[in-house]
Amino acid sequence: MQSYRLEGSNGTECLVMQDEVRPEPKPHEIVVRVRATSLNRRDTMIINGTYPLTPRRGIVPLSDGAGEIVAIGDAVTRFAIGDRVTGSYFARWIDGRINAGLIDQLGCTLDGMLTEYAILDEQWAVRLPDHLDWHEAATLTCAGVTAWNAVTGAGIPKPGQWVLVIGSGGVALFALQFAKLLGCRVVAVTSRAGKANRLRTLGADLVVSSTDLPEWGAAVREQTGGIDLVIETGGPATFAQSLIASTLYGHIVLLTLQDPKGRSIEMPAALYQRSLATISRIFVGSRTDLEAMLRAVSTHRLKPVVDKVFPFAQAAEAYRYFQQGDVFGKVVIDGS
Ligand SMILES: NC(=O)c1ccc[n+]([C@@H]2O[C@H](COP(=O)([O-])OP(=O)(O)OC[C@H]3O[C@@H](n4cnc5c(N)ncnc54)[C@H](OP(=O)(O)O)[C@@H]3O)[C@@H](O)[C@H]2O)c1
Repeated sequence: MQSYRLEGSNGTECLVMQDEVRPEPKPHEIVVRVRATSLNRRDTMIINGTYPLTPRRGIVPLSDGAGEIVAIGDAVTRFAIGDRVTGSYFARWIDGRINAGLIDQLGCTLDGMLTEYAILDEQWAVRLPDHLDWHEAATLTCAGVTAWNAVTGAGIPKPGQWVLVIGSGGVALFALQFAKLLGCRVVAVTSRAGKANRLRTLGADLVVSSTDLPEWGAAVREQTGGIDLVIETGGPATFAQSLIASTLYGHIVLLTLQDPKGRSIEMPAALYQRSLATISRIFVGSRTDLEAMLRAVSTHRLKPVVDKVFPFAQAAEAYRYFQQGDVFGKVVIDGS
């Protein structure tokens, strides 16, 4: 079988594809024939040496992937051969709160999914909804769970309330879709006005071009009466505007402090003084969160947005395409 391994942190140069022996499962393990994987911002940070958690040398990259089980260990009880599964981001975090003993991540400190056959403990995987094809099914582990927790984790927004999402990456588009499932109204902020129609088709009630209107906060607040929940994926370019757009007691889920260039958020004192907004953080989510999200995806037959699919042999091109930033949804690597 073929597998990618990470050797160093010098960008896509450190992605090495090699021939390996197909793994045999230990008693509690499953072997997954990986049919597709997808990229997240953290995967580009990992290959560039800017991710806060140090990856294990020689790790198989990528947390997100989907495939069918082709072998199981003697003691496996959760799955059977043929089941369609995906992995859980913090593989050991099953439920409740995270702690220092649960921070291992697929594709960083544990072997991930950019391989033809992945080996996982049976506790690290969940079954996939039937209505998703392999490419769609490979998008959920990181961006899907993050968006699910960002939208539902701190008190589910009520129907009719306003949710604001920023950009067109995986997290923003899943957050838009989940907010619409809950009956919320959504403002989508994009730096590329050409994406407005696609954002409206996904359900955005109002689309704002941050290129045409960099100081969009006051206009959004005026048009909506104030945003109830902001899914803040923009960083320093958008944080102040998110605060201005929010209601007095709004909620901002802060998913990043930095933009792709490494610049950090600043909090202007005048803004701080006139807002009572709650600012919270999340770390993706647990396996229970992944299962809850998949129930919603399955019930509503929600289709993740796939931007572009690359062949397995062109994983480095997929990383480079993702890194240039002009994406709409998830960048997928085919594994079939
Ligand atoms: N805390 C957590 O648990 C957690 C989990 C997952 C992700 N995150 C964070 O959430 C953020 C979103 O992640 P993501 O994977 O969904 O998407 P992403 O790749 O970071 O976002 C892509 C979108 O950002 C906008 N963008 C504008 N300028 C960009 C540039 N120079 N480079 C790249 N993108 C640019 C683009 O939207 P427009 O063209 O529409 O402007 C693009 O479609 C990241 O900062 C990530 O680190 C946090």
